[in-house]
Amino acid sequence: MKIAILSNGPGNYSTKRLKEEAILRGHEVSVIKYKECYASIEQNNPTVSYKGKDLGVFDAIIPRIASNMTRYGTAIVRQLEMQGCYTVSSSIAISRSRDKLRSMQLLAKSGIGIPKTVVSRNTTDIDDLLDQVGGTPVVIKLARGTHGNGVVLAETKKAAKSVLQAFYLTNDDGTNILLQEFIEESAGTDIRAFVVGSRVVASMKRQSLDDDFRSNLHKGGEGTIVKLTDEEKKAVVKAAKAMGLNIAGVDLLRSNRGPLVLEVNSSPGFGVEKVTGRNVALAVIEYVELNAKRRNRKDKVGA
Ligand SMILES: Nc1ncnc2c1ncn2[C@@H]1O[C@H](COP(=O)(O)OP(=O)(O)O)[C@@H](O)[C@H]1O
Ligand SMILES: [Mg+2]
Repeated sequence: MKIAILSNGPGNYSTKRLKEEAILRGHEVSVIKYKECYASIEQNNPTVSYKGKDLGVFDAIIPRIASNMTRYGTAIVRQLEMQGCYTVSSSIAISRSRDKLRSMQLLAKSGIGIPKTVVSRNTTDIDDLLDQVGGTPVVIKLARGTHGNGVVLAETKKAAKSVLQAFYLTNDDGTNILLQEFIEESAGTDIRAFVVGSRVVASMKRQSLDDDFRSNLHKGGEGTIVKLTDEEKKAVVKAAKAMGLNIAGVDLLRSNRGPLVLEVNSSPGFGVEKVTGRNVALAVIEYVELNAKRRNRKDKVGA
């Protein structure tokens, strides 16, 4: 097959691993820097160019869209979808996953456990807002933050109010702010499960090294192998499905009332391979082999 990996970082571990496994399986692979692609939008003739030439035809694309390039990256993916090219992650599902508010709404609607979450545009009802999420300490999140940036723990009502006011200050319509129940029993640890299709192919527990409540590896967290319970496996596969993603990195908290999904990442890193010894890249390539023959399925998420 002719496979394109859309990635701005050809040297990234994940990109290199995908390329390596695809070549081992006998595929022809190109790594395309989507930020250098340009799309020509014309009646009945969507094209994508790269380095002065038409990108040509691929049997499948594997988008690895960075969070700070979501709009441009998904526009390129959309253009390729419109040409009829198979993509393992649809442009609409990638965009959806980048908005924590939209994600929480969808996960909740699908009956998946999530920390109690409220969204608000002002602090006048701060008492009620806090009541709704179980009081302080409370987690406050920017709907479009990543790598643990834009996630704050406010210990007191006063602190919560100040943080909200500071966030609202720079707030335009594109930046929603969430207040979330603090899951204290799992502070500093979470689980990252890598889902491919309807299978969990690898999972790790992440632990923050200092006393940070955020366990992101980007924040210096450390990963160890973990075995998921059947309930947890079900929850993460369901979460990926609810978001319309075939490939997903689902973040999960172990709470006293069972697994709670925090977020579903559409371009999850492959660092979990190093922690677990599982061949995640191969699982992705095999999924592409099995599914690329089909036309892209219609997105049925509806939000
Ligand atoms: N409600 C919560 N209760 C306890 N810990 C949380 C909560 N929300 C987030 N965290 C911690 O903060 C980290 C980052 O939050 P997350 O929502 O995944 O944002 P990001 O997209 O920046 O990774 C999580 O991995 C988890 O360790
Ligand atoms: Mg996260």
